[in-house]
Amino acid sequence: MENNIYPIFSKMQSRQEKEAFLGQKGMTLWFTGLSGSGKSTVAVAMEKALAGKGIFCRIIDGDNVRCGLNAGLGFSPEDRKENIRRVAEVCKLFTQTGIVTLATFISPTRELRGMAKEIIGEDDFIEVYVSTPIEECERRDVKGLYAKARRGEIKEFTGVSAPFEAPLSPDIEIDTSALDIEESVEKIISAVMPKIKK
Ligand code: ADX
Repeated sequence: MENNIYPIFSKMQSRQEKEAFLGQKGMTLWFTGLSGSGKSTVAVAMEKALAGKGIFCRIIDGDNVRCGLNAGLGFSPEDRKENIRRVAEVCKLFTQTGIVTLATFISPTRELRGMAKEIIGEDDFIEVYVSTPIEECERRDVKGLYAKARRGEIKEFTGVSAPFEAPLSPDIEIDTSALDIEESVEKIISAVMPKIKK
């Protein structure tokens, strides 16, 4: 090959074999929403609920990934794009291994989420919009970041000094100021279980 790279995709076990082994279908549930909207909390509760149903899953979370794979990336539009590009590639690997992948990233623009969908593949991508209003996210301010952003101590903070574009037609929408965690999980589970277990 021209670039001296020789992928071995065709020699590896197929996705179908992986899915048969696990007895489930792989997919990515892509949680988007503001900081403090409840993405990670709902994903953690989802992980537990899925495990209870015998479903093998994995959370890929923004704050976690930014401590490892994406350490060194910041919050400029360019860095967010590289963050999402890399994690979408990771989600694709997990999904194609038959794993139900719960990705929790602010992913603030339609362009970024569109890129993630394109990388992962339309059929394997379910957009979950955690639509908790900013007033509620800021009232909770679990990490104290909204207060810092308002004081100007964090630049380009989503919802304060950087944009968040709401999805136009998410597959699932949950507002954690209106639904409790159990109700949120139930709403997602009932939408996705038929796709995971055929
Ligand atoms: S994304 O925009 O690139 O998708 P990501 O989900 O990985 O963001 O990371 C968001 C987390 O980083 C937030 O939950 C918060 O804890 C932290 N954070 C630190 N600085 C910022 C910032 N300027 N804007 C948004 N989140 C930030």
